[in-house]
Amino acid sequence: MTIPGVPTLPAQPRPGISTDPDWFRTAVFYEALLRSFADSNADGVGDFRGLASRLDYLAWLGVDAIWIPPFYPSPMRDGGYDISDYTGVDPRYGTMEDFRTLVEQAHERGIRIVIDLVLNHTSDAHPWFQASRRDPDGPYGDFYVWADDDAGYADARIIFVDTERSNWSYDEVRGQYYWHRFFSHQPDLNYDNPAVVAAVHEVVRFWARTGVDGFRLDAIPYLVEREGTNCENLPGTHRLVADLRAMLDREFPGTITIAEANQMPEEVVAYFGTDSAPECTMCFHFPVMPRIFAALREGSATAIRTVLEATPPLPAHGQWGTFLRNHDELTLEMVSDSERAQMYHWYAPVDRMRANVGIRRRLAPLLGDSRAELELAHVLLLSLPGSPCLYYGDEIGMGENIWLPDRDAVRTPMQWDHSANMGFSACTDPAALTLPLIADPDYAPRCVADALADPGSLLHFLRRVLRVRREHPVLGRGTFTPRETSDAAILAHTRMQAPAGQEPGQTLLCLANLAPAARDVVVELPDLAGCDTRIVLDATGQAPSPIDARGRLATRLPARGYRWLAIIPAGEENQ
Ligand code: GLC
Repeated sequence: MTIPGVPTLPAQPRPGISTDPDWFRTAVFYEALLRSFADSNADGVGDFRGLASRLDYLAWLGVDAIWIPPFYPSPMRDGGYDISDYTGVDPRYGTMEDFRTLVEQAHERGIRIVIDLVLNHTSDAHPWFQASRRDPDGPYGDFYVWADDDAGYADARIIFVDTERSNWSYDEVRGQYYWHRFFSHQPDLNYDNPAVVAAVHEVVRFWARTGVDGFRLDAIPYLVEREGTNCENLPGTHRLVADLRAMLDREFPGTITIAEANQMPEEVVAYFGTDSAPECTMCFHFPVMPRIFAALREGSATAIRTVLEATPPLPAHGQWGTFLRNHDELTLEMVSDSERAQMYHWYAPVDRMRANVGIRRRLAPLLGDSRAELELAHVLLLSLPGSPCLYYGDEIGMGENIWLPDRDAVRTPMQWDHSANMGFSACTDPAALTLPLIADPDYAPRCVADALADPGSLLHFLRRVLRVRREHPVLGRGTFTPRETSDAAILAHTRMQAPAGQEPGQTLLCLANLAPAARDVVVELPDLAGCDTRIVLDATGQAPSPIDARGRLATRLPARGYRWLAIIPAGEENQ
């Protein structure tokens, strides 16, 4: 790939995908919103070929897996999460052949592809819904959740509070109400109907055969409804997820599933299933995400510690997915009312910045474009338990556009270079662009080409940290132990290889100063007394600190400073 104005990227070090079945534990994921990423045919909409043409960039950055949000035919009333054909591709993104080529070309570069599966609901334009509303006694009559009135499941909350007043909508054609947890144009499928389960398994098989490496399971807690419950996380829903996983394990072993379950820690953990009935391979850690942002403003690590201490252990097959931002609002559903009020105060001072129960802003503007905070947020993300998922554009500090409706504020075209439409598209009709480019003069000129050309850029910083992470698989596979510190502003934790019973494995001590001022800290590490340390990542400029005979490590961390230290077992050479 050539990017105007910058040297060609170095040859790829990773030919082909690894055979490690646990690849996802050390992987870095990157969410690439297809329609806003790169447009290959100048029609103003990003596409498969465009994404394929940027694979070298993603490999250079150190991405192991790309998550592509829905690209199926859709009326696009919910960014494609309103699917009207599960086994097609929207022609605006290219052809099925283009999709297969993308998967192949990604694999050649050692990059996996994870696609989005929206199983809870379809678009009301889906032929299943059209048949269901017209012919209640026909084969699709029972594919959706119909009722004569709108009184049922009254304990279920409304998720899209900005637009919806009820989870029921009346359908004139059928003369009945249908159930929907999201927009009224997204009727929920009826998972009590075995024909729906069978149809959905066929959809999963269809995509698994294309060679994709995994599926993100969208909005998974809401599959099954039962009277007298909040209709979330019900046993029937868990059984469906476990059955799906069992089918994949049987027919497409190694294919991962990632749960989008925006729930409290103990409820999210349930989506891993158990050792005997595994569900998802990974679950996004929704509870920890807002706490990273809160901790930065509180100048204290307590919120992060508390949520991680409240997170139950996972079954051995599971791994968290961590993230700072994604294509949705920064959701505040999993915090208390007072925490939410604080978050709005800190991060969404203007009403337009809010959407539903959350904040529709990009990472860089959220953090006041502070380089120190952007570094610290990423360093935390990469050192906490789980595999991180980055959101396209955040690596170059892209801005937001709160004048666009809903979550489009954070879905604007990727900024590649200074050519037309910032290199996103050669389209000459501005009205044809999927969304307008960022116009805010502080953020509009940012682009990959400039960031590549500047070794001091956030992009280069991120690449370096991702490389350090790659060199320390313990950050993906190791246990997580929070450590006592003399100062609540400092998050100190160790990542240790799970005890194999013999040799002690690699151990990393990660320190992060959440405070906006320098702090001297003492960390208690009784089990590591007398060990030496070696710097792995450092924003302090100091020599590594040894751990004294009483198991204490003293160090000074600058404002928002961090350091990762490898522990050298006592008696071993520090090199
Ligand atoms: C998920 C998606 C979101 C979508 C919703 C309804 O939460 O991330 O973008 O609007 O599901 O499909």
